[in-house]
Amino acid sequence: MADMLSTTTAAPSVIRRSDYRSPDWLVPHIDLEFDLDPALTRVRAQLSVTRNGGHDHPLRLDGDGIVPLEVMVDGRPVSPDSWHLEAGALILTLPGDAHLVETLVELVPESNSKLMGLYASGGLLCTQCEAEGFRRITFFPDRPDVLSRYSVRMTADKARFPILLANGDPIDRGDLDDGRHWAVWHDPFPKPCYLFALVAGDLACNADQFVTASGRTVQLGIWVKESDLPRTGHAMTALKNSMAWDERVYGREYDLDVFNIVAVADFNFGAMENKGLNIFNSRYILADPETATDIDYDGVEGVVAHEYFHNWSGNRVTCRDWFQLSLKEGFTVFRDQNFSADMGSHAVKRIEDVRVLRAAQFPEDSGPLAHPVRPESYMEISNFYTATIYNKGAELIRMIALIAGPERFRAGADLYFDRHDGEAATCEDFVQAMEDGAGLDLGQFRLWYEQAGTPRVQASLIHDPVTESVELVLEQSLPPTPGQPVKQPMAIPLRVALFNPVTATHHGDELLILTDARESFAFSGFATPPILSINRGFSAPVIIQTDRSQADLAFLSAHDDDPFARYEAMQQLMVNVLIARTSGRPADEQAVVDAIRYTLTDTALDPAFVAEVIRLPSEAYLGDQMTRVEPDAIHTAREALQTRIGVDLEHMWRDIHAGTKANIFSTSPAAKGARKLRNAALHYLAASGASDGPAIAFAQFSEADNMTERQAALGTLANGHSAERDAALDIFYNRYCDDALTLDKWFQTQAFSLHPDTADHVAALALHKDFTLANPNRVRALFGAFSANQWAFHHRSGKGYRMVADCIIALDKLNPQTAARLVPPLGRWKRFDEGRASLMRAELQRILAEPGLSKDVTEQASKSLN
Ligand code: ARG
Ligand code: ZN
Repeated sequence: MADMLSTTTAAPSVIRRSDYRSPDWLVPHIDLEFDLDPALTRVRAQLSVTRNGGHDHPLRLDGDGIVPLEVMVDGRPVSPDSWHLEAGALILTLPGDAHLVETLVELVPESNSKLMGLYASGGLLCTQCEAEGFRRITFFPDRPDVLSRYSVRMTADKARFPILLANGDPIDRGDLDDGRHWAVWHDPFPKPCYLFALVAGDLACNADQFVTASGRTVQLGIWVKESDLPRTGHAMTALKNSMAWDERVYGREYDLDVFNIVAVADFNFGAMENKGLNIFNSRYILADPETATDIDYDGVEGVVAHEYFHNWSGNRVTCRDWFQLSLKEGFTVFRDQNFSADMGSHAVKRIEDVRVLRAAQFPEDSGPLAHPVRPESYMEISNFYTATIYNKGAELIRMIALIAGPERFRAGADLYFDRHDGEAATCEDFVQAMEDGAGLDLGQFRLWYEQAGTPRVQASLIHDPVTESVELVLEQSLPPTPGQPVKQPMAIPLRVALFNPVTATHHGDELLILTDARESFAFSGFATPPILSINRGFSAPVIIQTDRSQADLAFLSAHDDDPFARYEAMQQLMVNVLIARTSGRPADEQAVVDAIRYTLTDTALDPAFVAEVIRLPSEAYLGDQMTRVEPDAIHTAREALQTRIGVDLEHMWRDIHAGTKANIFSTSPAAKGARKLRNAALHYLAASGASDGPAIAFAQFSEADNMTERQAALGTLANGHSAERDAALDIFYNRYCDDALTLDKWFQTQAFSLHPDTADHVAALALHKDFTLANPNRVRALFGAFSANQWAFHHRSGKGYRMVADCIIALDKLNPQTAARLVPPLGRWKRFDEGRASLMRAELQRILAEPGLSKDVTEQASKSLN
């Protein structure tokens, strides 16, 4: 590959954590003036710069795709020979220790298809700067450890852009004679440039207030296009709940007088925590029963909270460099997960979070793109906004919180915020604050930040009837990952309980910390062998291997008092049966049917929890359990078990489906739980093959007063062949073709479908008039969903791989960041048979041979070939 790379693209340079140096120049203040127009925007920047330490290095101002039309120092134009451009950056030699540097650049926001920097979306002008977008707006030291106070003046046509927003507080505004108007905003908090934002457009506001614990009134605004205003209520409630939660749980108040959120239709990811002016992908703001599912409602609540929580974990304390990204992202995900758990069900939220971790992070951690939570190097930082940084990072904080206990964890968090307020900190600073504030020794624990890969823990119980004792033997191993062939043992906190199989009780939950490669723990007072419940609450992000029998697992699936462990026992029971069937071994399907029946009849359980427990592991998760993934065999085995469950429990599915129909719509946890269980019942009923299955699904589709039931019914129909399938897809399209977010569901449902022709359907949808590469949500709805659909994507012909590679190549020319996100599924070739593996490699090679390939895609595709 090295040859091919050098003939096509200059190999992107590698940035290393060990190369960190503090900035040569600081910028205590910046004044920005924007003359805004989608076709031509002028940006004048005035930077007060100060030399940082005794050195004679020039001032380096990063730039990307911009040229300086003027360069002035201390008010005087400088001659073109005292500055030069180097890899896009403006290099300026300055005589003294403090100067005023002024530049002027021009931008064309309407042709910015990368959606980084200043761009146009649906008539708005908006910005995205994290990680390195500010350098596409003006020349500046674009690194998170340069903190500045910002003043921003915007001028724009008043009719087209009546609303002008930026970070901080509005200071002044006025009209000009030519139909233009201006506004000035000032942010009193020094911030790195990745938190800069502005928005201009014709926006309507859902305005509200929040009174902080110390009695300050904060003006809240959620800005959307007028017609979307009725869909902002849920986001506003989530925002106010988040503000109250951070005061109550972390003692953190909001610090400005205004907090604004803007929803935009074209956005590369979920949302962005710009100081005082969060900018969101509209899918994480807009929700109403007609168009949003319960999952969407939860997504809005979680992302609104996430971005709000960044005000402390990210903005007040920011990152020294991008290797520390998990410092803000891991901690903030941990905070938003706990917030959502407090708003709903702790048990269900934990199961959902672990499902996400296993679906996104475990595969990453076992493949060619595996990297530590604190990476050592990168080519393109945008490629490191990963499940490892976010979700595994959150698991690390969760383990620290578990080891510390709630009071001491809070003391550690308080110390962290107080010690580093206003600073750019490191992951090590966080761990140190936890040690000092919570009184912990996290010496060995630090390996979690350094070593990539998912640890495996083999657990076995040895019972001695004579001494009436048991020994729990735990052995850990950590597989090699790129650049890390040999690993050291980690500190792994495991919550365990030993169940008496007769009484179904235990003597309490114990927290064991496994620190050696192999360790044993003794327990006394067991006349008969107990049943092991381990990694309760998913206390550590590891893979547990035990020799527990199917009977033990069935017992735990019925009696474990830890909800996660109960769910996990059922999952493992199902996995064992499905993997056995996949490899042609005998499998006791009856055990699964009986366990599901038992769960359905346990009336003490929350329906939302029941719906989680009875759900079969995904095809992709089953694939992850096999050394060599066999997509067809997995699909066949899973469909067969689903049918068996459907047939054997058909009357129960019918009863549940009929009995959970609500008369009035509500988004209460109880109502959401009922819908979740109802949809699961519909799904099994359809899987049973009952002749009225499609009619029942179609009736639910037609009669539903909410998107949760409508989309679930559509999804159920989409998996099969029926006249109802085609009718429902048509109706859905015609009803929502003018609503982009909802039309995404139409694309996504078909791409996720377990219909045998999904790959062909996706090929046709890619040519549909409503498919566009310009909108990242649409691309993700079709190709993101498709590449997560194991059976369809891994069609043995390779047509799935080809389509995704075609999309990557075409999209890379417009939006490299979003293109690069489609690469990882092609990098899993080592797990597949030779035929599929060589087809996948061929597509990666074809991508890499593309002239002018971006740094983003080059990094992902070249690493994926290793
Ligand atoms: N900080 C944003 C968040 O809250 C995400 C920014 C993602 N940036 C990127 N280049 N992918 O999660
Ligand atoms: Zn974040």
